[in-house]
Amino acid sequence: MLDRPTANAPSLDAAPRLGPPKPDMLTLDQAKAMDVGTMADVFKEHINPGQFHFMKLLGFHKVKVERAEGMFYVDQNGRKILDFFGGFGSLAFGHNHPRILDARKTFQDEKRHEIAIAFLSQYAAALAKNVAACSPGELDMVFLGSSGSEAMEAAIKVAERASGRKNCKIVHAENSFHGKTKGVLSITDSPLYKGEFKLVDNTYRVPFGDLAALTAVVRSDPDVGVVVLETVQGGGGIVEATTEYWQGVRALCDQHKVIWVADEVQCGYGRTGRFYAFEHHGVVPDVTALAKSFGGGKAAMAAMIARRDVYMKAYGTPKTAMIHAHATFGGIGEGCATSIEALNTLYDEDLIGNAEVVGAYLKERLQAIQAKYPSIVKDVRGRGLMVGLEFHDFSQTLPFALRPVVALLDDKLKGSLSGFIGALLLKDYDCLVAFTEYNRNVIRLEPPLICSHENVDQFCDALDDLLGRGIVSIVKDFVKTQMG
Ligand SMILES: Cc1ncc(COP(=O)(O)O)c(C=O)c1O
Repeated sequence: MLDRPTANAPSLDAAPRLGPPKPDMLTLDQAKAMDVGTMADVFKEHINPGQFHFMKLLGFHKVKVERAEGMFYVDQNGRKILDFFGGFGSLAFGHNHPRILDARKTFQDEKRHEIAIAFLSQYAAALAKNVAACSPGELDMVFLGSSGSEAMEAAIKVAERASGRKNCKIVHAENSFHGKTKGVLSITDSPLYKGEFKLVDNTYRVPFGDLAALTAVVRSDPDVGVVVLETVQGGGGIVEATTEYWQGVRALCDQHKVIWVADEVQCGYGRTGRFYAFEHHGVVPDVTALAKSFGGGKAAMAAMIARRDVYMKAYGTPKTAMIHAHATFGGIGEGCATSIEALNTLYDEDLIGNAEVVGAYLKERLQAIQAKYPSIVKDVRGRGLMVGLEFHDFSQTLPFALRPVVALLDDKLKGSLSGFIGALLLKDYDCLVAFTEYNRNVIRLEPPLICSHENVDQFCDALDDLLGRGIVSIVKDFVKTQMG
């Protein structure tokens, strides 16, 4: 029987505190109620003051998201912002898809288990089976993690072991992006992100899409055991390679017993109109990785998927199996439940088909805009709902009077229209777009896969109207945003 306090027992309030006093912390309600100015101050003080500078240039710092539903954010003033950014491809289902919310709520109401380290998890097992069912060929073995970087770390580890090379070298592409953790940072091409850290140096770097260059490196060094490539380069500015290239990569890797890792973190999960982008080219890699929308836009979920024989070579014995065991939150219950519901929804709602059809319409409308403003728009490229819009570099064509003003504003935006256009699309047209790591002239469009023809029309009408102002007015209007 429980001891009950007697009338004389000290009340709980008066009980001496056993642990440290509670620090001065904000409650969840206070967090929710924080105004946009306080958010900015706290961000600068505790998160990243330098990053705030860029958010301010783009005007992103003025928005406090109060709700998000489907294709739209709703800000503190009730303004609906059309999301063509899509969390860099993390929002295939849009914001807060009801079916995914319901699955999570049911999981919580039933008090299901989260951490499955001691016991097996029915959710992790079912999710792995579903991922294998969505994956062609023998891509059957699944590692669950919580970020694209983690999935890519697992990918290069399984590949390196399966390659059988003791001093294994990894080939990656120019303008590649595979994540920011230290292992994959070694194969992410950006000097900015590499930040002079001491990284793994067993790498080669080749131009993306150049089979001759890749062949030369593979042939030149028998220690080359792994080739890692995004199927569509996202950070590089939405850049594709030809079917001939991918078939050549497959043949080259087979010939030299090199493991091919296809990074599908951004371009996978239906975004290009196939579950995996490599399916457009009739080839299957040895290892691949998914993240971003894999968690249904609600959970931090990622997967590395390896061919069974590759996996078995790396971790197939009781002695090697535990080298590979997942992290504490790898395959977490609610995350897996969310991903199971998300994958079912992806197919039940035919979102991959929608990405192909609506994506083609988006490209068609953008190409018409390019034809209308050929001196501003240089290129429209991509597949499905992974589209890049490249502007001409105008640093040399801008009137002399405006050049120093623009240069003063920010070195990063100099010569790049995309920052100005992105800022004005948000300010004047309530449309949100993304930029790319390597090409400052490219706007990256990765709207949710639920995107409709009407959403495309709203976006393209806005862009058409904005470009109709002409470059000089666009720059002047942007300069005004920095003064207000
Ligand atoms: C192609 C690719 N690989 C890996 C990553 C890393 O994913 P995460 O940011 O979830 O670690 C990204 C993220 O943008 C990506 O685009």
